This record gives sequence, structure tokens and C-alpha cells, in this order.
Amino acid sequence: MIKIEPRVINLPKILDKRGNLSFFEYDSQLPFRIARTYWIYDVPGGETRGSHAFREQQEFIIALSGSFDIVLNDGVEEQKISLNRSYNGLYIPKMYWRKLENFSTNSLALIVSDRLYDENDYIRDFEQFKLLKNEI
Ligand code: TYD
Repeated sequence: MIKIEPRVINLPKILDKRGNLSFFEYDSQLPFRIARTYWIYDVPGGETRGSHAFREQQEFIIALSGSFDIVLNDGVEEQKISLNRSYNGLYIPKMYWRKLENFSTNSLALIVSDRLYDENDYIRDFEQFKLLKNEI
């Protein structure tokens, strides 16, 4: 079985004296079709978001403005990815525990997903996540 890993996807940049432009499309940049878009903003200093995994949902996260860190855990190892450019995004496959932290003032996180919102897709208990992950 091919293991799908999280990865930073570098998006096209159309440089222009009038202001720059970036974009993503399925399937040139994004590995899934978008079913839902949401964004996280006005995060008070020191707050974290996330701290859960998804059974099926995949996501792509961009720091449209400002910066924040994403801590990913695959059930064994942890890695931290800092997003601070509006032309870089992090692709997160299903079944990764993720936490968003260290938000800068006025940061804006854009998240696109391949699924509609479904609370049943969330795993909110880290020990349960590790058990399920090791069954795969
Ligand atoms: P949640 O995913 O737990 O936030 P985060 O992981 O970013 O900390 O969602 C917080 C609340 O918002 C929860 O009550 C469900 C609701 N929600 C929706 O209704 N639709 C959505 O697309 C998302 C992402 C959340």
C-alpha cells in the first residue's frame, strides 16, 4: 500500500507590479476535489485550534495572512510545519492528528477539505487516534 504523507505544496505565483496572485486547482496543485472551505481568524494570542484527527477527510491549509504553526502527529512521530507565506499550503491526508498554534496577530488560516462537515469523522481523543492508526 502506498503511504500518503503530508506535504507543503508550493503554489503558483503570478508576480505583478499591481500586486501578486496565487491560486490552486484540482488536480494541478490540489490532490482532491474541494467540497468545503472554511477559515479561522481573530485567534487570541496563545490560543490553539484543532487537536483532533479525521477518519476520512483530507485538508489543505494556507496562511493567507500572517503565520501559524501546524503540529502533525502520525501516531508515532511529531513534526511542526510553520506556514507564513500565502503561496505555500500544507496538504494533510486523513488520519493525522493536527494542532494549529502560535498564531500571529491578524493571521488568517484558509482550509479546504474534500468532505462536508461531519462530526462523526472527527477523532478527538488522542489515545483512540493512536489505537485506530496502528490498526491501519
Ligand atoms: P472544529 O473543527 O472543532 O474547530 P477547530 O478544529 O478549528 O478547532 O469546529 C469548531 C465548531 O465549528 C464545531 O462546533 C463545529 C463547527 N464547524 C462547522 O459547523 N462547520 C465546519 O466546516 C467546521 C470546520 C466547524
